[in-house]
Amino acid sequence: MKGNIDFQRNATANIERFWEKEAEKLDWFKPWDKVLEWKEPFAKWFVGGMLNASYLCVDCHLYSWHKNKVALYWEDEAGNTKAFSYFQLYREVNKFASMLKNLGVKKGDRVVLYLPMIPELTIAMLATARIGAIHTVVFSGFSSQALADRINDTSAEVLIAADFGIRRGKYIPLKDIVDEALKIAPIIEKVVVIKRTEEAINMVAGRDLIYSDLIKEADDYVEPVPLESSHPLYILYTSGTTGKPKGVVHSTGGYLAYIYATYKWVFDISDESVYWCTADVGWVTGHTSIVYAPLLHGATVLMYEGAPDYPNPDRWWEIIEKYGVTIFYTSPTAIKMFMRYGEERVKRFNLSSLKILGSVGEVINPEVWAWYYTHIGGERCPIVDTWWQTETGGIMISPVPGIELVPLKPGSATLPLPGIDAEVVDEDGKPVETGIKGHLAIRKPWPGMLMGLYKDPERYKEVYWSKFKGLFYTGDYAIKDEDGYFWLLGRTDEVLKIAGHRLGTAEIEGAVVEAPFVAEAAVIGTPDPIKGENIIVFAILKEGYEPADELKKEIIQEVRKQIGPIATPQEIHFVEKLPKTRSGKIMRRVLKTIIMGNPLGDLSTLEDEASVDEVKAVYEEFKQMMSGGA
Ligand code: PRX
Repeated sequence: MKGNIDFQRNATANIERFWEKEAEKLDWFKPWDKVLEWKEPFAKWFVGGMLNASYLCVDCHLYSWHKNKVALYWEDEAGNTKAFSYFQLYREVNKFASMLKNLGVKKGDRVVLYLPMIPELTIAMLATARIGAIHTVVFSGFSSQALADRINDTSAEVLIAADFGIRRGKYIPLKDIVDEALKIAPIIEKVVVIKRTEEAINMVAGRDLIYSDLIKEADDYVEPVPLESSHPLYILYTSGTTGKPKGVVHSTGGYLAYIYATYKWVFDISDESVYWCTADVGWVTGHTSIVYAPLLHGATVLMYEGAPDYPNPDRWWEIIEKYGVTIFYTSPTAIKMFMRYGEERVKRFNLSSLKILGSVGEVINPEVWAWYYTHIGGERCPIVDTWWQTETGGIMISPVPGIELVPLKPGSATLPLPGIDAEVVDEDGKPVETGIKGHLAIRKPWPGMLMGLYKDPERYKEVYWSKFKGLFYTGDYAIKDEDGYFWLLGRTDEVLKIAGHRLGTAEIEGAVVEAPFVAEAAVIGTPDPIKGENIIVFAILKEGYEPADELKKEIIQEVRKQIGPIATPQEIHFVEKLPKTRSGKIMRRVLKTIIMGNPLGDLSTLEDEASVDEVKAVYEEFKQMMSGGA
């Protein structure tokens, strides 16, 4: 096998020929007429080709030994289990698809899925794809407001929900959250409720329907609809620098061809793999790694519902041992949490089935990498530190043990995948020298690339293609070392990473000012040893209000209501002024510098120095209070 770097160079020289060969590995109903139509910045891959994601993920496996092998194992924190063979999954997907058709869902319609980590989520996604509808999965930890925003943006008419989610032994009333959301998103005409508990739930006559009733009327088989390659497979909302989350649209053909190829290279995935990705399906990591990529490959997927350390911190190792997991994919935040519990606990389990370990979502520092490598991987399993984004659809920078394992450097995601032309550039879009920090940018389109932002082509152009001419802007800082390895250095913009979850400061500020007594707010992230970042809020109160703990609690409630518990602020500070530029922009950099205790640097654009003094004084007082001082 050729060295990875050579392979990569050859690939980027002629991306069309390269990706065409990869796409041929899928079972298309009709081949494409043209590999790539690139009307910068809009790419269409495999134009004219026809395929269906559900057909590729289930039907294709019925004609080999895969038919009766396990496609999906599911387990929850209480130890309840389910298993579906590929044939059983096929039956469930068909029935679900028939039910959607009976509800009037047609090709191109959007279906919102607000479900916890249960097998029906995978089934619903594949069923939606089967009939050519477009799924929008909304993470079940999001609040009613966040759900409503997404429903309204997609103008979906059908919503699939569960009665409850279950986490740390507690029932989370998802159906109640849906009812709240639909007060502000009345466009939904039908709600299908998957009941998993005996608890009573509110049912709205004519709108709400019970899944187990509907499925009785459903047919056993629904023809998978042949879809043109650029037909959207899904819309997934993600946070950006400004305003409301953006609806990232992924294609069917390009996306599937891309993730099929890259999961082979990165994870060496095969039909013998038992693949466990600990993300939630509500994020892109889950879409690609829990649903589409492993099922395309005929692997066995493990889906786990529950918190990592409940009912005890051994849960994950128990699961790896029990199912003989071969590929394990998680976030640095999770590993850091387990490091605190110590390796002695891990040693009690037989983790010898593991072959490859993955990391995603944030930078993995060398110490965490070493612990993961030694104590989970037994110094035997390569760690694939995979850099990618909701927008990229699949992994972009990572070691590729499925092709050839380059020497690993803990903390570096190593090299761009074959066919990916990544570069670190300066403010003018010119490549920087080795070892110099710059912006990570991508030079050529790739099949997994987002097709655009839902109903907003202008925003798509502006967010990703306006900063550098002809380059896709990732919003990440990186440096390239003397071996061409990429070292990711975090976001360049106002996006926070909390336990690997992506949240925009503007989005959180928008939630804070919903509190009736807040006039203005600024949000920053500060480093947290476990979850990456903490959310710190600075708020200016409206006239007539005095700072009080009660108001802080209300702000927290408001943020949880607007976004969800993942966005809960760690600290809230009341100030009378925020540091701003003369043109009125909040200088979050200054706020962060003060909190971090760093030198303030150039303040020439600051409008009013008194604002800095005030923030310093407020924070000093806070620190004293926290340390028990006067
Ligand atoms: O900042 C990068 C970080 O996560 C961002 C993308 O977040 P999201 O769209 O939620 O997708 C999550 C994972 C697919 C990136 O812009 N990120 C992701 N992977 C890594 C990373 N940062 C450092 N190293 C990684 N391996």
